[in-house]
Order: sequence, then structure tokens, then C-alpha cells
Amino acid sequence: MVEVSTSILSVKKGEESETFFELEAAKTDYFHIDVMDGKFVQKNTYSKMLEYASYIRRISSTPIDVHLMVEDVKSAVDDFASVEPNIITFHYEACKNKQEVLDNINYIKENHCRVGISVKPETNIEEIYEFLPYVHVCLIMTVEPGKGGQILINDTLKKIKKLSKYVKENNLELDIEADGGINLNTAPEVKKAGCNILVAGTAILMAKDFKVIIDELKS
Ligand code: DX5
Ligand code: ZN
Repeated sequence: MVEVSTSILSVKKGEESETFFELEAAKTDYFHIDVMDGKFVQKNTYSKMLEYASYIRRISSTPIDVHLMVEDVKSAVDDFASVEPNIITFHYEACKNKQEVLDNINYIKENHCRVGISVKPETNIEEIYEFLPYVHVCLIMTVEPGKGGQILINDTLKKIKKLSKYVKENNLELDIEADGGINLNTAPEVKKAGCNILVAGTAILMAKDFKVIIDELKS
């Protein structure tokens, strides 16, 4: 069953609350919160995303899917655990060594959230195989992290296929989430490659009817 996680990164200024209410009514499966620290990626959305996530938590019971594009994972977990997210995902590339990856995984678990590990387009998927038994979600970036509205990088589809095959062969319990450039054209191949959670921002937020586009992405 495919789920949709709507990225609120590009929500229009001044229309935030009506957009969040409409997304809730359209039954998005998750709100995808793109947290950027201005160091791991150029943009800094940290305080805005914390404000949005806190607001969403107050008005909605829809699960929150936090995507940390930050260098200091632990302090971001401390800040965002306050909105009781369903998932907190951090980047493999933000960790100096294997121990730090494992520490971050445990730290997120101690905060009672499902753990996601994410890889940038140029990172080989084999580099994170050893961590997969300990996480709940693997977030495959299908664009370079840092901004919305980009074109899906086709090469990443091969990576999703490879991961999906590895997960099956090793009987792993893992959600495979894809993030970036996902719309009605690219969603079918991303699902066929093995993803069961699709992140979409622009494609949903620019649609006239959120429910129609969310249902079509899932179908
Ligand atoms: C990019 C973010 C994505 C992005 C998705 O760094 O992680 O979640 O906002 O936006 P679209 O769907 O517009 O590519
Ligand atoms: Zn994201």
C-alpha cells in the first residue's frame, strides 16, 4: 500500500494554515517537514519548520515525517521530538563514522520515533546496508537535497530497485521512501522500483485539488 508524505517546504506565505487544513482534509498520510540548517545544505528552514510542525501538531493528528538535512542530528532530534513525529530521518552523509550513525539511530529510538536513514543521490546504497536492520525507513533522495521544485534524477531509480531487492532477499522490515521531483509522471516508475512512501511537495501544493492529486499519486 503506497503512502504519500506531503512536503510543506514550499507552502505559500500567508496561506500556511488553510493549506495545512486542506492537506489534512485531503488525507495526506504524513506531513513531510524539511529541516535545513544552512550547513548540511545551503538553505536554513530550521525555525520556520519547527514553527510549522508545532502548529500542525496542534491542529492535526496526521503523522509527521521529519526529514533532517542538518549536521547536528542530536540537537535537531531534541528540538523536533517536541512535535511527537512518527518518523525522524537523518542523513548518512552527516555522520563522521559508523558509530555516529548507530548513536543517531539509538537516540531517535529513545525519543519514541521511527528511525529513517537518508542517502543523497551520489551516495552508493551499499554504504548503508549494514544499518538497515536497525531502522524503519530508508529515504532515497531522488534530487539533491536543499530545495523543492527540482527534476527527479533518473539514476536514483536503479538505486531504489537495488535497495528493494536487497530488502526482500534479506527479509528486512523497511519502508522505502523517495523524495524529490515526484509527480504524476514520475510516481509510477518510483513505485514500480519498490517505493511505498512517496514525498511530494510542488506537485501537490500547486494542484487545484489536493485530494485528487494525492489519490492519483497513490493509485
Ligand atoms: C528537498 C526536500 C524535498 C523537497 C520535495 O531537499 O527534501 O522534500 O522539498 O519537494 P518537490 O516535491 O517539490 O521536489
Ligand atoms: Zn524532504
